Amino acid sequence: MARVAIIGVGAIGGVIAALLELSGRHEVTLCTRRPLSGLSVETPDGPVLVRAAAVTSPGDVPEVDWVLVATKAYDVPGAAQWLERLCARGAPVAVLQNGVEHRERFAPYVPIQSILPVVVDCPVERQAPDRIRQRGVMHLKVPEGAIGDAFVDLFAQTPADAAVVSDFLTVAWKKLCHNSAGILPALLLQPSGVMRDEAIGETALQIVRECIAVGRAEGARLGDELAETVLQAYRSAPPDSVNSLHADRLAGRPMEIDARNGVIVRLGQKHQIPTPANRMAVALLEAMTRTQP
Ligand SMILES: NC(=O)c1ccc[n+]([C@@H]2O[C@H](COP(=O)([O-])OP(=O)(O)OC[C@H]3O[C@@H](n4cnc5c(N)ncnc54)[C@H](OP(=O)(O)O)[C@@H]3O)[C@@H](O)[C@H]2O)c1
Repeated sequence: MARVAIIGVGAIGGVIAALLELSGRHEVTLCTRRPLSGLSVETPDGPVLVRAAAVTSPGDVPEVDWVLVATKAYDVPGAAQWLERLCARGAPVAVLQNGVEHRERFAPYVPIQSILPVVVDCPVERQAPDRIRQRGVMHLKVPEGAIGDAFVDLFAQTPADAAVVSDFLTVAWKKLCHNSAGILPALLLQPSGVMRDEAIGETALQIVRECIAVGRAEGARLGDELAETVLQAYRSAPPDSVNSLHADRLAGRPMEIDARNGVIVRLGQKHQIPTPANRMAVALLEAMTRTQP
């Protein structure tokens, strides 16, 4: 049994809560910024009602053995307010977020060796604050090591596919390559079907190729064919699918632009690798957001 706190009970945090509920092995605390009087998750195996206690004030949380953070990357400073009490005894902090800078985001708040980056893959959407629909398996990948093994063990006897991987850096950059192209539908306010357009597909390839070049400079093992693989994945997805950047823009929320594309520009600069397609896409999306009603 472990005492587990989940900070950020949206789409991903909600599914994680349901999985831990299903395991029946843990004592779970939900850390939310609004009151949550119940949470139901429609999983591929049927509905799960999460019974864990929800706490809305960082001053009211118990010390725990594990902290799982599932806020958006731009909400890290708010998420960090929960950590002082939760981590009073040095609990590891698993960061379930997109991007490749999980450790950098939390390094100002907790010791670096207690941060566990997690690559999350799961089609899921929040239909209402208390209702989540999970449309496929929750895949969780973490770096090898003792903390990684303990994290995987949290999900034993659940339908999650949680595993340690020997080359986490490459796994994270592959995911970033996929996500990087998602800026185009968000810019165009059109679902993934827009990637079937020839010129948009060519632009997507440029964005992903820049990501590959920067990822390689960071040490990830990425083949040239990855750009085409990413484009084909978008083209074979249902044409009406909406990625989370696009969904955030539609909802008028902040967007993970920096975590998904800004990082390619920043790290490109560090390695003196030009990233004009990502730079332009970031500049356009940021400017459009500023002028959006
Ligand atoms: N959804 C997917 O299919 C998917 C797949 C793979 C990876 N990811 C990644 O997983 C991460 C989480 O995404 P998501 O889709 O689950 O986001 P989400 O549905 O927007 O959920 C984020 C949750 O964090 C909460 N939150 C924000 N600041 C907080 C704070 N200070 N204290 C407590 N809670 C706080 C939000 O609260 P409110 O309810 O008050 O807004 C919201 O419930 C992102 O990095 C995303 O890119 C998502």
